[in-house]
Amino acid sequence: MDLGSPGEKYRLAVLNTEASWAAFDPRAYVDANYRVLQHEDAEIISIMRDHFGDCFREHYQDHDPVVGIDVAAGANLYPALAMLPWCKEITLVERSPANLAYLESQLESYDENWDQFWAALCQNAEYRAYDGDPREMSREVVRVESGNLLDVDLGGQQGPWSVGTMFFVAESMTTSYEEFGRVVAFFMRALAPGAPFFAAFMEHSKGYHVGDQFFPACDVGELEIRQSLEPFAGREEKLRIRRLPHPMNLREGYSGMIVAYGCRN
Ligand SMILES: C[S@@+](CC[C@H](N)C(=O)[O-])C[C@H]1O[C@@H](n2cnc3c(N)ncnc32)[C@H](O)[C@@H]1O
Repeated sequence: MDLGSPGEKYRLAVLNTEASWAAFDPRAYVDANYRVLQHEDAEIISIMRDHFGDCFREHYQDHDPVVGIDVAAGANLYPALAMLPWCKEITLVERSPANLAYLESQLESYDENWDQFWAALCQNAEYRAYDGDPREMSREVVRVESGNLLDVDLGGQQGPWSVGTMFFVAESMTTSYEEFGRVVAFFMRALAPGAPFFAAFMEHSKGYHVGDQFFPACDVGELEIRQSLEPFAGREEKLRIRRLPHPMNLREGYSGMIVAYGCRN
């Protein structure tokens, strides 16, 4: 067992394997978080669409479509939608059988609630210029893969993915700082040199409920996030970190959200 985090020495430690991922209820999660576009997600989307829009306009304009990855996609489709205009394939890796089934159920034609997220992305001209039907393109491009982010060989590998996202994952699956760091490293090592990435974190999360089920979280702030990403994304020029204050506390037990984005070094 992990002995807990600095400042929270007596909190119950829960490693990733000890949480009931099979009991993660994707419908309850979507209802609580993504049925309606929340203020915080709209803010995250506004930063992400400009980041990806700028990166692909500057560096990838004349290139063939790329391959993207969203790690531990859970029951959230908007990171995949954010990569859609530039990808010939997007892999959604996930461990929970319930979330895998949800993601599979969205492949043929995703639910209407995701339309508002696509509309928010389309406030950026790069997304507006995309002339495909996002449902049709998702059907062709998105694939779902069962995988455990902590059960992979990280022996110096450099992944094939040219764009990647990780939303509320490394800090929202364990109380352990060691496991948090391994998952961030897995995500960054999956990316090819120069690949644009975007990650979102709950700040100082104490854990969270999905329906009646409680899941662990690792209490991280800007410092831990920066330290975990810097080896893979360099300093200021390649790594940007922003804290998003949240006027409405819609999700329990945390003090804000932090987004980190840039390009793999
Ligand atoms: C808080 S949810 C985030 C889901 C989604 N990315 C989002 O933005 O809402 C954490 C996700 O991590 C997944 N997960 C937990 N441990 C995992 C592991 N070892 N490997 C892969 N996925 C894992 C869970 O099943 C869940 O979908």
